[in-house]
Amino acid sequence: MRALVFKELGPLETGSIQELPSVPLSAGQVRVQVTASGVNFVDSLMSEGRYQIKAPVPFIPGGEIVGRISEIAPDVANVKIGDRVFAPVGVGGFADEVVTHARRVLVLPDSLSDGQAATFMQSYATAWFAFTVRVPLEAGRTMLVLGAGGGIGLAAVDVAHSMGVRVIAAASSPEKLALASARGAFATINTSNENTKERAKELSGGGVDYLYDPVGGELGETCLRALGEDGNYIVIGFVAGIPRLPANQVLLRNRRVTGVDWGAWVGRHQEENQKLIQDILDAIGNGTLNPVEPIVYALDDAIQAMRDLQERRIAGKVVLIP
Ligand SMILES: NC(=O)c1ccc[n+]([C@@H]2O[C@H](COP(=O)([O-])OP(=O)(O)OC[C@H]3O[C@@H](n4cnc5c(N)ncnc54)[C@H](OP(=O)(O)O)[C@@H]3O)[C@@H](O)[C@H]2O)c1
Repeated sequence: MRALVFKELGPLETGSIQELPSVPLSAGQVRVQVTASGVNFVDSLMSEGRYQIKAPVPFIPGGEIVGRISEIAPDVANVKIGDRVFAPVGVGGFADEVVTHARRVLVLPDSLSDGQAATFMQSYATAWFAFTVRVPLEAGRTMLVLGAGGGIGLAAVDVAHSMGVRVIAAASSPEKLALASARGAFATINTSNENTKERAKELSGGGVDYLYDPVGGELGETCLRALGEDGNYIVIGFVAGIPRLPANQVLLRNRRVTGVDWGAWVGRHQEENQKLIQDILDAIGNGTLNPVEPIVYALDDAIQAMRDLQERRIAGKVVLIP
C-alpha cells in the first residue's frame, strides 16, 4: 500500500509518500481500497504537531475516507466485499488502503459522490450538532457565518439555511462567497475589503442572533460586537488564533457564548450520533442539503493540498484520489 508518512511530527514538507506492507486483519476489521480521502484543516495541524492531541509516529494523516471493501474478517456480518463505504478513521486516511473496524463504516447511499462522501461528515455533523444540540436554532433568526467558504463554514451555511435561518456569509473571496450564496446565504460580506462587524449589523437590522465562528482571531473577537440582544457566539475553531472575548461585551445586550466540540460529544453519545448522521444523510438524500463537490488532488500531492488549505486558497473542500 502507499501512504503519506511523517516519521516525526513537523513541517509538512518532511512528509513523504511511501510504500508500506499491508497489515493483516484482526477480528471485526475490514480492508477498504480507498477511492477518496477528505482533507481537513486538522490534518495539517496534527502532522505539524500543533494539534491538542499528539499522534504517535510514524504518522499517516487523514481522518475521513471513502472506498470499496476488499476483505472482511471472518466474524464481520454487517458489510460485505464490494460495499462502497465511508469510514471516519481519524488517522491513516491519506493512503490507498485502510484497515478499520467494520462497526465504524457506513454503507453509502448513491445520493453522494465519492468526493462529497469523503468530505461532508466532519463539517455537516459539527453544524448539525451545533444547531440541534448546543444552540437549537429558531427559524427566521439571522446568523453570521465566518469562514463561510471553508469546509466547516460552508456546511454551516447549508444547514442553518435548511433550518429556516437567514444566513449572512463572510469570506475573503468572490469564489468562496459564491459557494455560500449557492447554499442559501441571503447576503455576503467580503472580509478582504468590507468591515464585517458593521456590515453584519446593517444587514441584520441592528445585530445578528447567532455568530458561527470557525475562524477566531481578531475577526472573531470583533464580530462578537455584531451580536444583537441575547445573541449567541457559537465557538467552533481557531484557524486564525484563539480570540480573547471581553466579558463586558458578553454582558452587554445579554449575549451568550457557546462552545461546540462535536468529537468529544461523539465519544459519549454513539447512538445519538448515529441518529444525527442518519438525519444528515436523509436531508442530503431528499435534496435539502447540498454538500460541495470537492477540489481533487492526487494522493501524491497531499502536502500541496494541505498547504493550499492552510493558506486559504481553497474554496469549499479538498479530496485526495489515490
Ligand atoms: N468544534 C468542532 O467540533 C470542530 C469540528 C471540526 C472542525 N473544527 C475546526 O474548525 C476550523 C475550520 O476548519 P475547516 O475545515 O473549515 O477549515 P478550512 O476549510 O481551511 O476553512 C477555514 C477558513 O477560515 C478562514 N481563515 C481566516 N483566517 C485564516 C487563517 N489565518 N488561516 C487559515 N484560514 C483562515 C479561511 O477563509 P477566508 O479566506 O474566507 O477568510 C478558510 O476558508 C478548524 O480549526 C477545525 O479544527 C471544529
